[in-house]
Amino acid sequence: MRAWQAAELGDPADVLKLVEVPEPTPAPGQVLVRVHAVACNFPDILVCQGRYQERPPLPFTPGMEVAGEVVAVGEGATARVGDRVLGQTGLGGGYADLALLDAGNTWPWPDGMTPGQAAGMFVTYQTGYCALHRRANLQPGETLLVHAAAGGVGSAAVQLGKAAGAPVIGTAGGPAKCEVARGLGADHVIDYIGEDLVARVKEITGGRGADVIYDPVGGDVFDASRKVVAFEGRILVIGFVAGRFADAPTNHVLVKNYSVLGVHWGFYRRMAPEWIPAWQGELEQLWAQRRIDPLVGAELPLTEALEALRLLGSRGSVGKVVLVP
Ligand SMILES: NC(=O)c1ccc[n+]([C@@H]2O[C@H](COP(=O)([O-])OP(=O)(O)OC[C@H]3O[C@@H](n4cnc5c(N)ncnc54)[C@H](OP(=O)(O)O)[C@@H]3O)[C@@H](O)[C@H]2O)c1
Repeated sequence: MRAWQAAELGDPADVLKLVEVPEPTPAPGQVLVRVHAVACNFPDILVCQGRYQERPPLPFTPGMEVAGEVVAVGEGATARVGDRVLGQTGLGGGYADLALLDAGNTWPWPDGMTPGQAAGMFVTYQTGYCALHRRANLQPGETLLVHAAAGGVGSAAVQLGKAAGAPVIGTAGGPAKCEVARGLGADHVIDYIGEDLVARVKEITGGRGADVIYDPVGGDVFDASRKVVAFEGRILVIGFVAGRFADAPTNHVLVKNYSVLGVHWGFYRRMAPEWIPAWQGELEQLWAQRRIDPLVGAELPLTEALEALRLLGSRGSVGKVVLVP
């Protein structure tokens, strides 16, 4: 079968090669899935570069979330050949024709979802649900500010915020992406490249600021968020695509009475795995009511993985970028 592999760390364009590898055999508790779609995530780039918080052994195949059809079942795994599932492969393994998943970490492919949507429905929506509900305890009527709102995790957070009854302000880079954020349901959008983010959030919120801020960007955007977080507000640290880890001086946190909340959704799989099926159940309900609707901005063949990662890493994508083997 075909699989993209990195034999050394570096930029995806330099180190990833499409190679032929033997078909894997599911170990006890695992299933082998024919990949119908694999979603690309910013961490795929970071893992290749060796800049992610976890470092898998080499050679490494990126791709952490897939949708596909079970073609082989390992001993003791509760699944059947032919089941259509989505799920997380771990840190990688999805940029391939076939991928292994732990059977306990697969979920039914919701009715009506395209392969691309099903592949992009897991990590980003679980992260958003965990962050907004478990970590920030977002309440109906509280204002939610979502940065990079047209992106992967951002687009999910906009939809989940609206579903939770929050007025949503989305930020995005450029008019076209602002339009995408508006289409996702954001009540207000700010072009944070061309507009003054701090002044605009204050204007929109009548000077109060945002109650919950969802920040996958970090750097200067995090610095600006500290200026517009409301009294008793919560800033959710989701990621650092800007490349700089910003600081939150503790005197500022104290004086303004706000919280900075770290979110590492993947850690819940180890520390509190019981939450994940509960959140997936909530997400399936939201999809059934079409209160969430995963946005697939680009669907490319598996052979175009380098182009997919180039789009993602160069601010050239909206929603999810997916590969279809
Ligand atoms: N904490 C968790 O559990 C968790 C889970 C999943 C993902 N994440 C993190 O969430 C972040 C976003 O991941 P994603 O896959 O959803 O990516 P994405 O949002 O689809 O793509 C990144 C977006 O960030 C914005 N951006 C701002 N400055 C950028 C820069 N210097 N370089 C590139 N992009 C920049 C761009 O949108 P604009 O052009 O609109 O600014 C870009 O489209 C990553 O840091 C990822 O590691 C965290």
